[in-house]
Amino acid sequence: MDETSRPTIIAGNWKMYKNVGEALTFISEFAPTVFTISSEVYLAVPFTCLQSVAAMCKGTKVTVGAQNMSDSMEGAFTGEIAGTMLKDAGAGFVILGHSERRHYFGETNAFINSKVKRAIADGLQPLLCVGELIEERENGMTEKVLETQLSESLKSITGEEIKKMVIAYEPVWAIGTGVTATPEQAQEMHHFCRRFIAKTWGDAVAESVPLLYGGSVKPDNVKTLMQQADIDGVLVGGASLSSESFSKIANYQSLRV
Ligand code: PGA
Repeated sequence: MDETSRPTIIAGNWKMYKNVGEALTFISEFAPTVFTISSEVYLAVPFTCLQSVAAMCKGTKVTVGAQNMSDSMEGAFTGEIAGTMLKDAGAGFVILGHSERRHYFGETNAFINSKVKRAIADGLQPLLCVGELIEERENGMTEKVLETQLSESLKSITGEEIKKMVIAYEPVWAIGTGVTATPEQAQEMHHFCRRFIAKTWGDAVAESVPLLYGGSVKPDNVKTLMQQADIDGVLVGGASLSSESFSKIANYQSLRV
């Protein structure tokens, strides 16, 4: 199967930035610039502006999502947010297992796995992140780390369910550092992830799941990353905060670089 059968996804992750007013200003500037592009556009926004951003994005190219959720359906869990609440507020997807959640909040693969299952049960598309630390790369452990993260975070998830997910490879050393993996390094790891998915769930699953690259993606490096065979999209943090730079990234096909 050729890779063009997978959707291309340009995803933004605002992290803990933007209040409601700032978010709506962004959408009013950004949404008109992506009406005609062929890629899908995802935007993971803070919980507090999810509902108003989702309402404003109705009828546009932008699918709005969240950056985290509880692994429980509901209950006495102070401060947590359920997947059904996100869905109700207009979310279509949820980022799970982002390296900032893994490293600052101690999220384990087992915990992420229960969130993935919960998201699927709640009708949200999981966007699962995996990626190695710099020490792991330097010690030649990258493939082992990715294999463990994928197999444990996706434990007991069926091939049919994985087909409906999105997976992002984000080397931790490239996130927010300005250091991007080279297109070749990124392609090598994407290919490894796709092969691992094929070995575990079969070729049809591996060929249909979109794999995004994340880590210091900018207007000046997006195009060469997107030219790699196994890179189906990007997950953008810092450069998704400005409507101008995120619009350039989403319109990467018309960039000169
Ligand atoms: P960055 O973040 O683009 O700022 O490196 C990427 C991410 O955390 O998803």
